[in-house]
Formats: sequence, C-alpha cells, structure tokens
Amino acid sequence: MMYTAYSAAVLVVVLLAQAISAQSIDTNTTITASSFVGVATSNSFPASGTTVNSDLFPPESKIGFPGPTPTGLEAAAAQTAPIYPYNNGPSDSFPLVAPQPWGSGFFSKAFDITKYWGNLSPWFSVASADYGLDEASPLIPSGCNIVQLHLLYRHGARYPTTGAAPQTFATKLLNATKAGGFSVTGELDFLSQWTYKLGAELLTPFGRSQNFQLGVAYRQLYGELLNNFTEAGTIPVFRTESQDRMVKTANNFAAGFFGVPEYLDQVNIEILVETPGVNNSGAPYEACNNSNVASKGSIGTTVATKFAASAFNSTIARLQSQSLMDHCQITGVNFTATDAIAMLQLCSYETHALGYSAFCGLFSEEDFLNYEYYYDLSFYYNNGPGSPVAAAQGKGYLQEFVARFTQSFPDASSALNLTYDNNTTYFPLNQSIYADATHEVVVLDTLTAFNLTALFNGPALNLLGNQHRNSFVASKVVPFATHFTTQVLECPAYNPTRQIRFLVNDAVIPISGSYPGCPVNADGLCSFDNVVSVLQKRIEEIDFNYDCFANYTAEAGVDYNGRAPKS
Ligand SMILES: *[C@@H]1O[C@H](CO)[C@@H](O)[C@H](O)[C@H]1NC(C)=O
Ligand SMILES: *[C@@H]1O[C@H](CO)[C@@H](O)[C@H](O)[C@H]1NC(C)=O
Ligand SMILES: *[C@@H]1O[C@H](CO)[C@@H](O)[C@H](O)[C@H]1NC(C)=O
Ligand SMILES: *[C@@H]1O[C@H](CO)[C@@H](O)[C@H](O)[C@H]1NC(C)=O
Ligand SMILES: *[C@@H]1O[C@H](CO)[C@@H](O)[C@H](O)[C@H]1NC(C)=O
Ligand SMILES: *[C@@H]1O[C@H](CO)[C@@H](O)[C@H](O)[C@H]1NC(C)=O
Ligand SMILES: *[C@@H]1O[C@H](CO)[C@@H](O)[C@H](O)[C@H]1NC(C)=O
Ligand SMILES: *[C@@H]1O[C@H](CO)[C@@H](O)[C@H](O)[C@H]1NC(C)=O
Ligand SMILES: *[C@@H]1O[C@H](CO)[C@@H](O)[C@H](O)[C@H]1NC(C)=O
Ligand SMILES: *[C@@H]1O[C@H](CO)[C@@H](O)[C@H](O)[C@H]1NC(C)=O
Ligand SMILES: *[C@@H]1O[C@H](CO)[C@@H](O)[C@H](O)[C@H]1NC(C)=O
Ligand SMILES: *[C@@H]1O[C@H](CO)[C@@H](O)[C@H](O)[C@H]1NC(C)=O
Repeated sequence: MMYTAYSAAVLVVVLLAQAISAQSIDTNTTITASSFVGVATSNSFPASGTTVNSDLFPPESKIGFPGPTPTGLEAAAAQTAPIYPYNNGPSDSFPLVAPQPWGSGFFSKAFDITKYWGNLSPWFSVASADYGLDEASPLIPSGCNIVQLHLLYRHGARYPTTGAAPQTFATKLLNATKAGGFSVTGELDFLSQWTYKLGAELLTPFGRSQNFQLGVAYRQLYGELLNNFTEAGTIPVFRTESQDRMVKTANNFAAGFFGVPEYLDQVNIEILVETPGVNNSGAPYEACNNSNVASKGSIGTTVATKFAASAFNSTIARLQSQSLMDHCQITGVNFTATDAIAMLQLCSYETHALGYSAFCGLFSEEDFLNYEYYYDLSFYYNNGPGSPVAAAQGKGYLQEFVARFTQSFPDASSALNLTYDNNTTYFPLNQSIYADATHEVVVLDTLTAFNLTALFNGPALNLLGNQHRNSFVASKVVPFATHFTTQVLECPAYNPTRQIRFLVNDAVIPISGSYPGCPVNADGLCSFDNVVSVLQKRIEEIDFNYDCFANYTAEAGVDYNGRAPKS
C-alpha cells in the first residue's frame, strides 16, 4: 500500500542518514600523516619596505576640520556606579571559541575550559568570597573616596616561549613523519595535516585586546584621578620592560586608557631593560641567581611534571588506541605525559593565537582539572609561598610600592634598579595613578612578598593530587592580563581616615590574618599607616642576598612563606 511504501522510503532515508553520520566519525579509515606535519609555518606582514605615506595620507592634525571636541567629566565608575562591571561573562574571552570537554553530553552542565588553563587562562573576575570576604566589592566603600591607585598588571595572551613543550611536540611529529611516517584515525585525524602555526614570545591579537580593555576599564573606573595630574601640570609615567610583548602590553594598556593616538602624547612609557645581570624589579630573575637554579627556583616545575606523569594515563591510553574497537587512533607515535601537557598547551595557545584549537576537544573535564592543578603546583612552588626565592624576587616591587607610599626612594636591597629609582623623573613619588606592566611570575612573587597569605590559605599544596584544601588556584591569580590593584582611600568616617586595600582580579583580599594590627574588616580595609609599617617590616625580613645567592636546601611540599629556609 501507499502508506507502507512511504514508511519504507522514510526508513531508508533515515538509515542512509545514520550511515552518513556514522561515516563522519568513522574510526576505521586510517589516514597517513603528510610529510609536513609539525613543520613550523608562519606569515610576515607587512611586506618589508612598505611604509605609511603621511604625505599622501596626512593625519588629522594636517587635515583639520575635526568638528567640535568638548570633553566631559572624567569617569569614576568605581566611585559612582551602583554595580561593578565584573569581567565574568563571555566577554572575558571574546572572540576566542572553546568547545565543551571530550565526553560531555548534550545535557551536561556547561564547563568553561578556558578557566582551567593556569597562567594560560584569559583573566576573569574572581569573587572576594573565594578568599573569605563574602560581601566585599571593588566599588569604593561608602564613606570613602579614592585618592591613589597602584596597578601591577601582566601582559595579555602570547605565543609560547621559544623551544617550549608545544614546539617540541611539533618536532616529535615531524621526526615521526621522517622515521617511517605515522597514521591517525578518529579524533586524531586532524593531525594528518597539522602544522605548527605559532610564533614565539609575541602578544597575540586577543592578548592586545586584553591589555587595551584593561586600559579602557581602568579609565572608566578611575579616570577622575587624572585630574590630579592636570592640577600638578604633569603627565603620568607608566613602566614596563624591554621585551617586545612587554612594550606592546604597556602601549595597548595606554591606548585603552588614553585613546589612540592620544596615548602618544599623554603618558611617558618608561622601558626598563630586561636582560641577564641587569637590575629590574619587573624581571628580578635576571638578578636573583638562585631563581635560575632548578633545585631552588623551579621546584614547582619538577613536582608539577611528576604529577602530570600519572595524571593523564587514561587519556593517553584513549588517544593512543580506541579501546571500544581495539583500534589504534595513532600508530607510529607513542604519546607520553609530556605530550599530553604539550597538547593541552596547544589547546590554550592555538585558541589564543588562532581563535580555535582542534586539540581542545580531545580532553575531558577531568583532564582540564588536572591541567589546572599542574599549574597550581608549578606556581605555588616556583613563585608562591612554597618557593624559597619568591619573596626575594617580589621584594623589588614591594620596595617600590612602599617608596611611593612614603615618598622616599627605596634602598638597593633587591633586584630594583637604583639608577632609575633614585630620580623623580624616572621614579615619580607623587602620582595619583601608577601602572606597571610585568610577567605573571613577578606578579605572584610580589603577592608573596606582600604577605597576602589569604591567597594561599590552607596547607601547602599536596604533591600527588588536588585536595581542595588551599585557596590558591593559578588561573585566578596568574592568568593573562592578571592585575594586582591597590586602592588608597580617604574615609572621613574612619579613624584614621587614610585607609588602603588590595584587590586581585576584582577580588578584595583580606589582610587581617597576615597584617598585624589590621582588624577584620568586611571591605578588606586597614589603616594606611599600619599597612605601610607592616610592609616595612616585611621588607626587612626578606633577605634578598641570602635567598638569591646562598647555598641552602629547599624542597617542595613546604609553605616557606616565599623565603629560603635557614639551613
Ligand atoms: C569498522 O571495522 C569493524 C571491524 O572490521 C567493523 O565491524 C565495523 O562495522 C566497521 N565500522 C564502520 C563504521 O565501517
Ligand atoms: C627530532 O630529531 C632530531 C634529529 O634526529 C633530534 O635531535 C631531536 O631530539 C628530535 N626531537 C624530538 C622532539 O623528538
Ligand atoms: C640599571 O638599568 C640600566 C639601564 O638598563 C643598566 O644600564 C644598569 O646596568 C642597571 N643597573 C644595574 C645595577 O643592573
Ligand atoms: C650571579 O650570577 C652571575 C652570572 O652568572 C655571576 O656573574 C655573579 O657572580 C653571581 N652572583 C653571585 C653573588 O654569586
Ligand atoms: C602512569 O603511566 C606512567 C608511565 O607509563 C607510569 O609510570 C605510572 O605509574 C602510571 N600511573 C598510574 C597512576 O597508573
Ligand atoms: C611505541 O611503543 C611500543 C611498545 O613499547 C614500541 O614497540 C614501539 O616501537 C614504539 N613506537 C615508537 C614510534 O616509538
Ligand atoms: C642591583 O641589585 C643588587 C642586588 O642584586 C644590589 O646590591 C645593587 O645595589 C643594585 N644596584 C642598583 C644600581 O640598583
Ligand atoms: C642617589 O641620589 C643621591 C642624591 O642625588 C646621591 O647622593 C646618591 O649617590 C645617589 N645614589 C645612587 C646609587 O645613584
Ligand atoms: C634624572 O636623571 C636624568 C638623566 O640623568 C636627568 O636628565 C634628570 O634631570 C634627573 N631628574 C631629576 C629630577 O633629577
Ligand atoms: C596628587 O596625588 C598625590 C598622591 O595621592 C598627592 O600626593 C598630591 O598631593 C596630589 N596632588 C594634587 C595637586 O592634588
Ligand atoms: C605574614 O603573614 C603571617 C600569617 O600568614 C604572619 O604570621 C606574619 O607575621 C606576617 N609577616 C609580617 C612581616 O607581617
Ligand atoms: C651546595 O651545597 C651542597 C651540599 O652541601 C653541595 O653539594 C653543593 O656543591 C653546593 N653548591 C654550590 C654551588 O656551592
């Protein structure tokens, strides 16, 4: 009958559709990898010899006719807005795309993989409640006015370090294509055509936007503090280091803060040389020898690598062979834990640089949690309280902050460079806004030097696995464009009226537990004078020469408060 024939036709169509969709995830077809897999590929724009022609394309200043240009009041949203603009929506990673983890079903709870990439996460707003201040907000507490802002911020997303794990992984695949070739199937079939598309060290376009956006946000939150410069008849000095991405970081921040091209005329950007042997608070590892001795300066890397050696076994087994069909996904290459970390890093770096990475979809939610813990261990013991050289490296910035609080130049008992810090041209002491760009390791060293122990509340991180007993999470503290903000406030209702507090990525950090004389305060406030005197004591107790140059024995698993053991 017509009806039956029609049903049969529908059935055939359905079966065909199923066959086609099954074919698209076919794990039986093995693809031989091309000989170019893993080859480094790159482009170079602009072509050499090309320049902007400002004779034929004159700038606004030559053309004229700009129309009306009346200014308005400087924004002061931190002071005036009823709600704080937290960076915790999709905007924190726009325009990157990130898939759900491997194995997550249609009905699984959404899991944002980008928040589990340790220092490779894009920064996002952290809740004050994560460190114990349930009610605190970055908005200026009522009854207070902000008088000074100190910002220490990290560069945005970048390419990997030259010769790091992702590049080594590419070379391993390239070597395999030469040594008899390799073949892939299933989820790994993209590797048959994969090339290494990342450069090294530079900021990516998304990284630029992070620093630019941070500049925009800080102008909007704190722009009124510029009136202080106007009254004094000066423009600010903002600082950074000489590495290309650091210079571009400061430029992008300034572009966001002042506008393009206004930033070229409205701020002096001071570039401190970053190279071995030269003092620079923004690159203290160049002056702290023990930071470059593995048994002292990178004990975190060692234990993180050890943790990773066991954490990814089932994933490696899955990627190596399709257990369901007892069928290899890859032959001719044997994956190791090092490769698992490299592929996870490729997920992060390719997403930052290219907008998307096929590597991300290979890893499960558990893998991303382990990847984060790998970074938690690495940073806690390399640059946090578990490191014997963290506080010493952060001491330079600590001294500079205190110098700006007390209007007196610092002395030379750390990696800071007195050639600059002994001169108000290069080291002004009376700015209402300070903005220094640096690296994430230095931000963490600095937080350790500041004795902000609420960031590391709990027992030293367990070397075998995450016991969730410590408040430290790397992606919250050292992500791309992370920033440490100090608000100096005048609060007529308080005694004394001069108050201060610290924020990390919008989380207000309580100091009552680690700053003697600072009472518990729901807004994280403490007397300015008391905080300065606590920090002065902290400067005295951090022995830069011993921690950076002595021969002592340090081991992971201990909370050293960032200072070398006396042994
Ligand atoms: C894959 O191969 C197995 C074993 O040869 C076979 O049973 C299965 O039907 C094949 N699957 C597909 C999608 O071709
Ligand atoms: C690739 O092969 C070269 C030359 O044999 C070797 O030096 C290098 O260690 C290999 N690299 C990797 C990651 O396998
Ligand atoms: C301070 O910085 C200047 C400029 O980079 C450099 O020449 C000098 O050597 C530095 N001082 C020290 C002690 O490293
Ligand atoms: C630190 O290392 C540098 C470079 O190797 C060396 O010249 C210097 O003497 C070392 N400093 C100390 C105190 O050991
Ligand atoms: C994971 O695999 C490595 C290397 O094969 C092995 O040394 C380690 O014991 C394994 N760990 C676990 C928990 O199975
Ligand atoms: C991978 O490991 C297997 C088993 O240990 C070994 O037989 C094979 O030679 C290895 N392949 C490569 C490419 O290293
Ligand atoms: C450079 O740093 C060292 C500590 O490593 C310090 O002794 C020296 O005075 C500093 N020099 C200058 C010019 O800042
Ligand atoms: C710092 O400046 C003071 C006063 O100008 C000068 O006496 C001193 O020698 C300077 N110190 C250094 C290390 O440049
Ligand atoms: C700081 O040093 C520079 C270069 O030596 C000099 O031109 C400038 O006048 C100094 N600034 C002050 C305030 O002494
Ligand atoms: C600008 O701010 C600084 C730091 O708070 C302060 O010392 C100075 O008096 C202010 N200047 C003016 C003109 O208000
Ligand atoms: C640093 O914090 C700890 C508590 O975490 C506290 O015992 C210690 O006194 C603090 N150090 C200074 C110099 O305030
Ligand atoms: C540091 O001390 C250890 C143990 O006493 C010794 O083996 C090592 O040679 C010393 N290292 C240096 C650089 O003096």
